[in-house]
Amino acid sequence: VYPDAKIASVDVAQRIASLIRAKQREGGQVVLGLATGSTPIYVYEELVRLHREEGLSFRNVVSFNLDEYFPMQPDSRQSYVAFMKEHLFDHIDIDPENVHIPDGTLPKENIESYCLAYENKIATLGGIDIQLLGIGRTGHIGFNEPGATRDSKTRLVELNDLTLRDAAATFGGKEYVPTEAITMGIDTILAARKIILMAWGKGKAEIVKKTLESEITEEIPATFLKTTEHVEFVLDNGAASSLP
Ligand code: F6R
Repeated sequence: VYPDAKIASVDVAQRIASLIRAKQREGGQVVLGLATGSTPIYVYEELVRLHREEGLSFRNVVSFNLDEYFPMQPDSRQSYVAFMKEHLFDHIDIDPENVHIPDGTLPKENIESYCLAYENKIATLGGIDIQLLGIGRTGHIGFNEPGATRDSKTRLVELNDLTLRDAAATFGGKEYVPTEAITMGIDTILAARKIILMAWGKGKAEIVKKTLESEITEEIPATFLKTTEHVEFVLDNGAASSLP
């Protein structure tokens, strides 16, 4: 638990930077699992600062985003492609060929094979080194909503009503929010070597408390994180405010 989101985010970004630099010294690659939404914005801000001011290079970084709305055009303002460009990719030296974000433009019949290829690509690169996560008020991680199973992989899912309401402001009304998304699964996420779930503010306090105190259940997908040791919850005082 950190005094505020910014201090916590700088710490998370510094740890990512250390791994990138350590791998650079060995001539190796880093595979990052990335999230969108308000939660990781300060982490990306600090990574951009480290690139600009401290020479941190992302030439040896490969990234896989957790999710994308479906359907979604990459050049749409609300796309996760646009989000990632605005907050990170347009400001660093990552090779665009190393960036992977689920494709929201596919014909439905191609999604299954696309998702399998997404999984295979992660595996071929040796798996995800660090996976960043936020948490939705439904307890979703990625877009794994209540009911998602422990063994779920990258796939097309339906979004929960609360998630649609939380996204309404971004889309100018709930009726404009896509009701489906492509998301990495719980199994995809848990396979990462290190998972950092971040949550900021009192609005997340209730779901953080439920996640930490509940038994492991599909009703709160984030509880699956408690089945592995390599998970860390990084909270600010607000998100931790309902904990004992
Ligand atoms: C985003 C994602 C979601 C968000 C979650 C929290 O890629 O996978 O699980 O992390 O909805 O969103 P914010 O950070 O906007 O509160």
